[in-house]
Amino acid sequence: MRTPLVAGNWKMHGSRTENASLVRSLLELLRPEYRAEVLVCPPFPYLLETGRQLKDTDVALGAQSVCAEAQGAFTGEVSAAMLRDVGCRYVLVGHSERRQLYGESDALVARKFVVAQANGLIPVLCVGETLDEREGGQTLTVVSRQLEAVLSVAGVAALGTAVIAYEPVWAIGTGHTASGEQAQEVHAMIRGKVAGLDATIGSSVRILYGGSVKASSARELFAMPDIDGGLVGGASLKADEFARICAAAG
Ligand code: PGA
Repeated sequence: MRTPLVAGNWKMHGSRTENASLVRSLLELLRPEYRAEVLVCPPFPYLLETGRQLKDTDVALGAQSVCAEAQGAFTGEVSAAMLRDVGCRYVLVGHSERRQLYGESDALVARKFVVAQANGLIPVLCVGETLDEREGGQTLTVVSRQLEAVLSVAGVAALGTAVIAYEPVWAIGTGHTASGEQAQEVHAMIRGKVAGLDATIGSSVRILYGGSVKASSARELFAMPDIDGGLVGGASLKADEFARICAAAG
């Protein structure tokens, strides 16, 4: 049985005051009977403070990116060891904004995945196609390629301690969420591909859906057999909306 995970990706939003109030409200709204594990990913400067606020709660802390190098002269970068040191349990790798706006290649994403795991972090590997790719019938090819880049470097066993997030680029921040069926088709392909390499990991790996998830669309998405929760951007900045998405996951 896979425990659903609902992750909030705050992106480059918030302030110390806003974050504190968001987390306070969220902790009040989350109910112990919710089955989903909950994760928030604040921007780097706020990790330590948000982590302190989450101490002794069931909400986990994650980062939005990580440097592919372990340490050294990499101005402006943040290492996986540093993220662990400030209390992160998870880290997003390969988010489409990193791939598209900062030129992160499949190969770089794979290195980030490996360095994250080597430092005890659980990578949330984001994959997904653009609108052009979907319209060109390339969805499964693109997602397979992104997955393959990590599998070829890290091996399928590495997915035993990782999470995959399918995030169609055309659905991110656009308000156009994928339908349950559209998402399920890709999730099933991802799970099938992993299961073809290792049946146990295929059935246990959590695959999240991301892209304009709202409380109103979460239930339909999370009801799909291969969707194990969500990676939520905009809606994770509103405590009541995010808590309702967590409720929808279980
Ligand atoms: P969105 O973002 O929910 O605002 O579409 C999702 C994401 O980028 O992870």
